[in-house]
Amino acid sequence: MTTKARVLLIPGSIGRLSYTRAAIQVIAQTLEVRGAETRIWDLAEMPLPMADPEYDGIPQHNPDANVRELARAANEADAFVLATPVYHNSYTGVLKNALDCLGDDQFAGKPIGLVGHQGIQPVDHLRIVVRSLGAHAITRQVVTRKQDFASGPDGYVLNSETLTHRINVFCDELLDWVRRFRGD
Ligand SMILES: Cc1cc2nc3c(=O)[nH]c(=O)nc-3n(C[C@H](O)[C@H](O)[C@H](O)COP(=O)(O)O)c2cc1C
Repeated sequence: MTTKARVLLIPGSIGRLSYTRAAIQVIAQTLEVRGAETRIWDLAEMPLPMADPEYDGIPQHNPDANVRELARAANEADAFVLATPVYHNSYTGVLKNALDCLGDDQFAGKPIGLVGHQGIQPVDHLRIVVRSLGAHAITRQVVTRKQDFASGPDGYVLNSETLTHRINVFCDELLDWVRRFRGD
């Protein structure tokens, strides 16, 4: 790879103690070990306003500084990881709102890895949504359950050999797609 792959990871949970965030942290570390540059956008720490259709397609002009910063980070990203728990049989509203604050310019032609917690439905739903943004959801996906984690002093810790292996393969595939799409 010529320059480091830049991956923007968005955990779609603002829970203070979040399995989704714990999974994303492992995925970010796994990508970094493979030479990627990662940034986790924590929607609890960097909240976004309700997506305003006035700025559809022009997030860089949004009056909210967090939206402008997210758009900048997304423009620079070569790939994304979107993660979400199951909320009412789908993915979370905060994640949808984040996607609605952005648009095709940020996502088109880029690979996206999808991660679900507590069920597969949100990942299936996201697969359709990212297609409308012109992005390519990679084939492999990661789905975690509560029993895959242990409680540590700083929150949940992934505690599953099967999932650790799955995450390794998922990260390999994501970075392989980056290489192919960038023509490295
Ligand atoms: C609004 C809401 C809706 C939920 N809907 C479902 C559901 O349909 N099915 C399910 O298994 N869990 C559901 N849950 C439980 C969450 O998936 C579960 O608490 C998960 O651990 C939250 O992820 P997090 O720890 O990353 O925040 C729901 C939780 C909330 C707050």
